Amino acid sequence: MAERTVIVTGAESGIGAACAEAFGATGARVAILFYQDQAAADATAAAVTRAGGTAMTVQAHVDDEASVDRAFGAVEAAWGPAAVLVNSAGLNMSGVTVRDMTLAQWRRLLDTDLTGAFLTSRRFLTGRGTAPGDAAILHISSIHAYAVRAGGADYCAAKGGLSNLVETLAIEEAPRGIRVNAIEPGMILTPMNARAERDDAYRRTLEQNIPLGRAGQPAEVADLAVFLASDRARYITGARIVIDGGLSLMQALGA
Ligand SMILES: NC(=O)c1ccc[n+]([C@@H]2O[C@H](COP(=O)([O-])OP(=O)(O)OC[C@H]3O[C@@H](n4cnc5c(N)ncnc54)[C@H](O)[C@@H]3O)[C@@H](O)[C@H]2O)c1
Repeated sequence: MAERTVIVTGAESGIGAACAEAFGATGARVAILFYQDQAAADATAAAVTRAGGTAMTVQAHVDDEASVDRAFGAVEAAWGPAAVLVNSAGLNMSGVTVRDMTLAQWRRLLDTDLTGAFLTSRRFLTGRGTAPGDAAILHISSIHAYAVRAGGADYCAAKGGLSNLVETLAIEEAPRGIRVNAIEPGMILTPMNARAERDDAYRRTLEQNIPLGRAGQPAEVADLAVFLASDRARYITGARIVIDGGLSLMQALGA
């Protein structure tokens, strides 16, 4: 990855921050796209630099076309077209059933977790123009793309749609040498799982459902992201790779 430009969205925390640091360790130039927290983005940038990479921070709201355009433009002005996009920005499920869900809540989730993937992918591609191939797009999806939860219609619909976006993009961009894949994590200890991070008893209860016996770490997802973006994964495109300690295999065992 040395000397390659990697754009990571949602990079001020959780899986995005871990991906930024892991790409930094490969010697990459890492653009840390953040939502609201400049100080958190600065901390990710420091981790990237410590790991051996080069970092810049840029604010980007992935659900806003103009904001995405500005952020990608700033990265390209500094470093030229990006070779890798890791889209980790996302919101968690509302926990509200459909009969009680407002249209505003539905749209908020879909705008971030699905339209955000469309806007960032499209801007990544147009930014590359006719640059020669060997590029990769990774979207952080979820096992909830196919394993649904009551109260998660907004999230499950967004991530389910993301699967089809990834597969469509993969066949569209394959002739240009651009690979597009999804990573589907299970339970990962990030701010999205804040209660499990601070409450050991609660976390252990959830972990009983995970065959490997523990929640995952963001760095474990980041290792997969670096592999999928690398030349070692050169024949992998349109794939949805599960990383969940076996959690999604337990679906049918509840009854
Ligand atoms: N943590 C898990 O267990 C888990 C499991 C499966 C999938 N995921 C997915 O992983 C991705 C990263 O989540 P995480 O676990 O690191 O949680 P996180 O909350 O730490 O990261 C999500 C990031 O997205 C940013 N964000 C939210 N809305 C945004 C917007 N409109 N524009 C730009 N950025 C925005 C947040 O500021 C945050 O930094 C998400 O897409 C999530 O759905 C997480």
